[in-house]
Amino acid sequence: MYVILYNEGMVSMNYYELALQRRSTRSFKTKKVSPTIINQLHDYVFRCRALVDDAPVQWRILTDGVYERLAGCAGYHGFMVEAPCYLLLLAQPEPWYLENAGFMGEDMVLKLTEMELASCWITIQDPDELKRQLDISTSMVPAALIAFGYEKPVPSGPRIDIKSPSNIALKQRSGQEAPKLYLDDAVFDGDWGVPAQTEYWNPRMNLYQALIAACCAPTALNRQPFRFILDDGQAALVILPDDLTSPVNARLNTGIVMHHFASVMQEKSGRMDRWNLTPPNKKYKIPEGAVIAGTYPI
Ligand SMILES: Cc1cc2nc3c(=O)[nH]c(=O)nc-3n(C[C@H](O)[C@H](O)[C@H](O)COP(=O)(O)O)c2cc1C
Repeated sequence: MYVILYNEGMVSMNYYELALQRRSTRSFKTKKVSPTIINQLHDYVFRCRALVDDAPVQWRILTDGVYERLAGCAGYHGFMVEAPCYLLLLAQPEPWYLENAGFMGEDMVLKLTEMELASCWITIQDPDELKRQLDISTSMVPAALIAFGYEKPVPSGPRIDIKSPSNIALKQRSGQEAPKLYLDDAVFDGDWGVPAQTEYWNPRMNLYQALIAACCAPTALNRQPFRFILDDGQAALVILPDDLTSPVNARLNTGIVMHHFASVMQEKSGRMDRWNLTPPNKKYKIPEGAVIAGTYPI
């Protein structure tokens, strides 16, 4: 039913283009993903990028009708996405393991996008039950789940309409992508609330493109509870409190946004800088309940 995979190393993709191209798909063809493509994914997991070096993780590629088994323990309440395959990341619950799972999971999502496969992040509601359903006996915990396969071309087909986690409906596809944060609203200069005036920036700047990619990142329920403060040669990622985002999804979101930003900065600048996850000494006037998840040299 699945293959056990481990992680190491890095490889390069056109991350900026892929970040802009990617979107969630919830309507998949029943068509199977060929063994050749599954093998390419097996190879890639060894080179998938990580936020935390040498974090103990295992990737599993789930095929052959696991939808029924996942349906009771994953997906937004009462809405599990049916797909021919799923990627599952198991991780040792060490500090930053969920942020790292978000980062690694998004690297896989962009790899799937590059391979012209459709995908969707899936919320793990009950990790213990998920392990039971899939007969997983390792001490690692399910940290990230991603549905993938071939998109069903349904121009007038169902589109998920997320009002809240317990109020999700399917409505006719409007043809519109999930709306994303504008840079003007997402990026501050020096401190919270001071606009960075990104409208005057050169759109070819590395930083501009990295911020655009970050604003295109998937977040649970498309809540996008993050912003950036540019200060002192660093970009600080601010995570806002959000009642509709669970603590687990908030940490996955953080890793996903960090991935989009870092991979584009690295690709465009050629510098392999990393996110610093230690809170900065400087106190910013961020909203109550908000935290600075990390800083990145700019
Ligand atoms: C951590 C996380 C959990 C998610 N869980 C689900 C889920 O359980 N079911 C679902 O249909 N979509 C899920 N999504 C997908 C988001 O709803 C989607 O990314 C968001 O609406 C933005 O749309 P886009 O991905 O097309 O940009 C999840 C996304 C993230 C990042």
